[in-house]
Amino acid sequence: MIKNILLGRPILVVFNLTRRCNSTCPMCSIWKTPSKIKDELTLEEIEKIFKGLKSYGMKHVFLQGGEPLIRKDIIQIIKLLIELGFNPTLITNGLLLNEKNVNEIAELKCNVTISLDTLDRERYIKIRGVDKLPLVLKNIEICSKIKNKKGMWHINSTISKINYDEVLDLFFFAKNNGFNFNCYPYNYSHCYSSSYNEDMSFDNDNSVIIEAFSKLKETSKREGMIFDKIVYDDAIKYLQGKYYKPCDAMKKSILLSEKGEISPCLEFKPSFNLKEISIKQALSKMDYSKVKKCYLQTPCFYGCTRGSGIVIRKIPEIFIFATKHPKTIAKFIKSYFF
Ligand SMILES: C[S@@+](CC[C@H](N)C(=O)[O-])C[C@H]1O[C@@H](n2cnc3c(N)ncnc32)[C@H](O)[C@@H]1O
Ligand code: SF4
Ligand code: SF4
Repeated sequence: MIKNILLGRPILVVFNLTRRCNSTCPMCSIWKTPSKIKDELTLEEIEKIFKGLKSYGMKHVFLQGGEPLIRKDIIQIIKLLIELGFNPTLITNGLLLNEKNVNEIAELKCNVTISLDTLDRERYIKIRGVDKLPLVLKNIEICSKIKNKKGMWHINSTISKINYDEVLDLFFFAKNNGFNFNCYPYNYSHCYSSSYNEDMSFDNDNSVIIEAFSKLKETSKREGMIFDKIVYDDAIKYLQGKYYKPCDAMKKSILLSEKGEISPCLEFKPSFNLKEISIKQALSKMDYSKVKKCYLQTPCFYGCTRGSGIVIRKIPEIFIFATKHPKTIAKFIKSYFF
């Protein structure tokens, strides 16, 4: 993995392993074109593709979709990826979590991110399209009761005009339930995976959401959460329209579709299929200039394409922090690099 970082090659696979979903979020367009089960990669195909990705130096995988827990073989997929040497993170809306799968996932030391954007039932319906807040909260409670959760457990919030005033409540809700917290702004640059929603967008006045991220940044700093603080610094720049850094799509992460096709990120239509050609061949045929044009003209701030790159670029700031908080840094390095 270190070799890939030095060579500017991807380390993270964002695996959208299904387009099926049990929610209808207006910010997302994936659920509108669900995949057919017969078109989704089988366990054997996943094994073959991920063997190739591992030998190319990739280490991390986000298991998302659609809703990844909709796949009946999700636990087998997680086991397989761990056996192959990957560090998986399951990203879920939390509706299908239960005592059984939560315990299995925890035992496997799989990282888990549960998407929760609000603690208000009416808002939840607006943001997620379904009346399921009580169910998600019940499932989060199941997770919070697991002692010594192995792996990193996060609550992730997508922040929009509907919920910007809840960021600190969500931060402390996560903390009080034994989760880490992160959040990213609502994006709708290309609408291949995202979707434009007027109630959520903050086109005309960004000031309130910038203020919300600034409060969160200060809180993270106070709580010694350097990585979060660093990412929020850049999220604020993005919201202020000052963000033009290289996007790490294709350089640090790639997207793998449920059919095995790859693309630079969630917002680009997938093309080459890894059932047919190797990752090396596929990357050599892909054109980074399209990514460059995209981030210069219509940048976005997705966690999967921005998070790791920002942290890697800010090593000096992390180093200064490490001298004061060695335990926090050691935990991070252990989770992500080994
Ligand atoms: C596409 S979902 C797939 C996993 C799962 N269904 C879920 O919702 O957690 C992955 C993450 O992207 C976030 N997301 C969806 N649409 C978004 C958008 N337009 N802008 C920013 N984040 C978005 C979701 O809230 C979720 O945390
Ligand atoms: S954001 Fe997640 S839960 Fe919502 S529709 Fe998209 S895939 Fe489904
Ligand atoms: S800025 Fe990067 S992650 Fe966002 S749509 Fe463009 S290429 Fe994709």
